[in-house]
Formats: sequence, C-alpha cells, structure tokens
Amino acid sequence: MCGIIGYTGKKQASEIMLDALELLEYRGYDSAGIALLDEKEGGTKVAKCAGRVKDLRSLCTQKDVSGTCGIGHTRWATHGGVCDSNAHPHRFGKVTVIHNGIIENYRQLIEKYELDGKLRSQTDSEVAAAVLSRFYQGDPYAAIRKTVLKLKGTFAFAVLFEDIPGKIFAVRNVSPIVAASTEDGAILSSDVAAIVPFTTQYFVVPELHVVCLSRDGIEMYDLSGDRAGIEWMTVDWDISRSDKGGYPFYMEKEIMEQPRVIEETVLPRVKDGKPDFSAEGIGDDMLTQCRRICVIACGTAMHAGLVGKSLIQAMIGIHVDVVMASEFMYNDPVVDGETLVIAISQSGETIDTLEALKFARKCGSPSISIVNVKGASIARASEYVIYTHAGPEIAVASTKAYTTQLAVLYLLTARMAIARGLWDEDKTKRYMAELLRIPRVMEEVLARKEEIHHIADTMLNARDVFMIGRGLDYSILLEGSLKLKEVSYIHSEAYASGELKHGTIALITSETPVIAVVTQEKLKSKELSNIKEVQSRGAKVILLIKGGEVLEQEKIWSRIFRLPVMEDEFMVMPASIVLQLIAYFVSLDKGLDVDKPRNLAKVVTVE
Ligand code: F6R
Repeated sequence: MCGIIGYTGKKQASEIMLDALELLEYRGYDSAGIALLDEKEGGTKVAKCAGRVKDLRSLCTQKDVSGTCGIGHTRWATHGGVCDSNAHPHRFGKVTVIHNGIIENYRQLIEKYELDGKLRSQTDSEVAAAVLSRFYQGDPYAAIRKTVLKLKGTFAFAVLFEDIPGKIFAVRNVSPIVAASTEDGAILSSDVAAIVPFTTQYFVVPELHVVCLSRDGIEMYDLSGDRAGIEWMTVDWDISRSDKGGYPFYMEKEIMEQPRVIEETVLPRVKDGKPDFSAEGIGDDMLTQCRRICVIACGTAMHAGLVGKSLIQAMIGIHVDVVMASEFMYNDPVVDGETLVIAISQSGETIDTLEALKFARKCGSPSISIVNVKGASIARASEYVIYTHAGPEIAVASTKAYTTQLAVLYLLTARMAIARGLWDEDKTKRYMAELLRIPRVMEEVLARKEEIHHIADTMLNARDVFMIGRGLDYSILLEGSLKLKEVSYIHSEAYASGELKHGTIALITSETPVIAVVTQEKLKSKELSNIKEVQSRGAKVILLIKGGEVLEQEKIWSRIFRLPVMEDEFMVMPASIVLQLIAYFVSLDKGLDVDKPRNLAKVVTVE
C-alpha cells in the first residue's frame, strides 16, 4: 500500500514523479505529494494534498516544484485521517521522508524522543522522520542505520537530506522498493510498473540495506556499513502494456487481454504436449511426495486457490486446504514437511500471504508461489516460483491475474497427475487440448460483450445481488461476487445454492437479482431445483449455463447467457469472464471510478 517514487538525474523531477504517481495510484489514492531538493537555495520544497494525483498536479502548477532530485508518494491511510497534513512527504529538520508500511512502536518513540507537540501530522511516518532527524549529524548512512534499529514494523522509506544535494536514500523492511539506473541518473519505486518507462534493468533493494541514488549511479550498503552487491533483474513487461490501450478503464483493457496473457502463461510451459516446469526447477518429486496441499492467499488469489482445490482433489485425490492468509497463523495451522504450500499472489507483496508463507516454511513445508510480479517478496520467500505472465495489472480489481493464476493451477494439476502416473496418454491429450483451447473460448465470450452489458443493466438499481451455484460454480461465484461488490458497491453474496434454504433464502425477494451459474453436469439437476426455489420467491434469475441445451423445466430465468462449451472442469474460464464483465459494466454505468474503487488499494502491505 502507498506508492513510492524517487528520481534524481538531469530532468525536472516533478514531471517524472507526477507521471509515475499516476501509474502508482492503484496502491492508494487518498492523498499524494512530492518533495524536491532545492539545489540553488538549499532546503526542500514540498507540495502535498489530500485527493488524487490530479489534485496534486494542479497544486504543483501553483507552486515552485523545480528541481532534478525528488521523492513522491501516493497514500492509502493507515495512521491518521485523510487530510493535507497527513499526506506525505513529511519534513522534519533537515530530513524529508516518504513511507510505506506501519511503524508499530510509534507511540513509544514519541515518548522516548519527546516528540509530543512537535509533530504536524497524526502519522507514524512523521515520527520516523523525527527520529531520523534526531540522529542525523551529517552522516546519512549512520542516521538511517540508527533509526532502523529503533523501529518496529514494516517500512519502505525514501529520504532526502536537505544538505546532500542530488541524492536519494532509501531503506526497507518487508515493504518493497525497487531501483534502477536511468540514462541520466537513477530512479526508485515501490513497483516495477513505474520503472518500466525508463529501463528494463532493475533490482529489488534487499531488506535492511541502505541504498543511495545519485546522477552518478547507485550504491548500496548493509546495516554494518559494508558495501553490498546489486542483483540486477530484467523486467519483460512492455511499456505499451501499462497504458489503457484506448479503453476507458484499465479494468476493461485487462479483461480483454485475457486470451493473450493466458497463452503467454501456458505456452512456454507445454513441452511435448505435457505441462513442464523444468524452467522453474520444479521436479516431479515435489509433486509426488506431498500428502496434502495447503493454498494460502487473499481475496481474488484465494478464490483462484479454491478452483485449484476442486481440480486437485478431483483429479489427484489428495486433500487440499485453502486458507485465507490473513487467518492462517491465528488458527494453529497444521503444516509439515509433507504439506506442499502454494502461495498465490498477483503483487507478490501481500503481507498476510508473505507472513503465512514464511511461517509454513519454518514448519518445514516445501513451497511454490504463483506470482505475477517478478522478484516480488513472496516469489523470493518461497522455494520455487511460477510466474503468471499477466503483465502489469493496474485496475484495483483483479481480472487477468486471476485467470492466469487459474491457468497455472490447471497446468500444475496436470503435471501432478502425470507425475503420479494417474493419467494415460489419452487423458493427458484431451486435457491439454482443452487447456490450450481456453484463449479461443475466451475470445468467443469477449465478442459477446454487449450481450453481457445488457445483462448488467438489470442490476444497476439493485441493492443486493445473490449469486448461487454448487461446487466449482460456487467457487467462481465467490470471485464474481467480490468483483461486483468492489467495483459497483452493490451488496452481493455468493451462496452455495444448497445452503440457501438453511436461512439465507429469507433475504430473497422480487427486488433481488440472482445470478445462477450452472456448468457442472453432475450438479445440474440440483442446481436447477435451487434456482426454482429462488424464482418461486420472486427473484429475477440471470442464468449462466453451459451450452445451448433446451431445459426441461419451464422458463426459470429472466435473462440467460449460454456459455461456450468446454469440459466441465474448464467452464470456470468462460464463466469468469462473464462475471467480470457484469461487474465492470455495472460500475461503468453507475458512473463510478472503475479502476479505483473507494477505500481500496491494489497492493496490501499492511496486516
Ligand atoms: C480483488 C483483489 C484482491 C487481491 C488480494 C490479494 O479484486 O484484487 O482481493 O486479490 O488483495 O492480492 P495479491 O494477489 O496481490 O496477493
């Protein structure tokens, strides 16, 4: 949470930072600010305000924000409300700081360093700035080292010292920072997305290392003051993939990209007609020796895990738990050397998932992570990583990351089945052919976008929406319902349709649209009965059903969308696209900010 940018070079830093902050806004968008070192007059200039980056941009037109070295921030509030004074950067004495994370012991620090009455904001971040300022006596490295040792919590700091022109210092614990050289200087950010316009070479600043950026390059030291080497990485994201590509919102663009990114995720991992993870170093031993699997993830990524659970249990016959990472440690998790832990995360930075993964590894569990962002903390914390090739996902609501996570889970399930000798050639061939067909099937659904738009129109004025299904259909509805909630603000609940009559059916009225998904042959008759139950209570049913078959029952829907036919276990893919588009169109037609729903942030680095 919170986007961080820093630039030093020959160009005007404010323009570069404002553009980058717009790209980073998905990390938090309640306030924004920049600070620039004033190389002529000395001192630091700060422009900050509550609101979006566009508000900051207009503030900057009224202020002197010239300068070639600066830091910028877009905030998702943790400590202190949303107001100008709580926006970052925070200046204290000679230091100016931006921060992502939470300083847990900020109260103790206020007391210890007698800061009461001296702070201008309610943020924990300003407390850290004050402590750093106290320790700064001309040696930035020493001051940062001393400060870091006093802090408890997670942090990524970028710092300007007003008497050190042209240099940005940074340090982090858990919260991410990446840095890169540019043709005229250097840049740092919380996200690779902001680096991509400048270079494809970057590195992840290791935890508790102090990095210094200047026009002459980048230096890095560990906390004992020894110079540290830099491990460069290459980002393969294409810069053009970071713009909206002519769509009104990133969410639509990202939904439309799914056929391509699924292909890019799957094709490099198919050799001789079989899934192959040798490039990731994942041997069959790992997939055959585990007795159970535990998936840890949050939100949409966890919903991908639920689909994975259904697949693996059905095809491999081993037990799979899917645990919300935020709850993992508080429920006495039972994981051991025979439990393969799979962590799923788009950003690779979700702290709940990261901490759960670290815990599981301490218990001796082998681990694989499925991550979209190269070099992210979760990727580095797990034994093996499988990257989804979704490219930058900018809309806060996850779409293409989810389906690429599913694609990896389909591949992993197949590899596991083959490695365990459960499938013959014929079964493998049929499954892989279906897997490779997903992009074309998705295209078919995407081509019917306007049909889905009409369906979405029926929900525009709804206060509550229910979504019902069983088995795999229920798993995808959990995701469909989350999507609708987060981008349209309509209360929506996914319910296992057999469970409705145990209480929740009391909420169904003629005012409640119900989306029912029916894609699994073995569950169909029961699902159709459940649909009749809600229809009898007056609900208007929007039916998403596999194929074009004529239903025996009298008309039980008010709208119907016939999904292209795939094998049952793959129906998740076309159905998910329909649910994503319904959420998108409802939000669009309500005139909401689809890409930046209220209160949310894309990367959740606080527990
Ligand atoms: C919802 C959404 C979130 C994320 C969750 C985990 O659209 O995007 O629910 O899925 O915050 O994030 P990652 O995948 O980055 O760990």
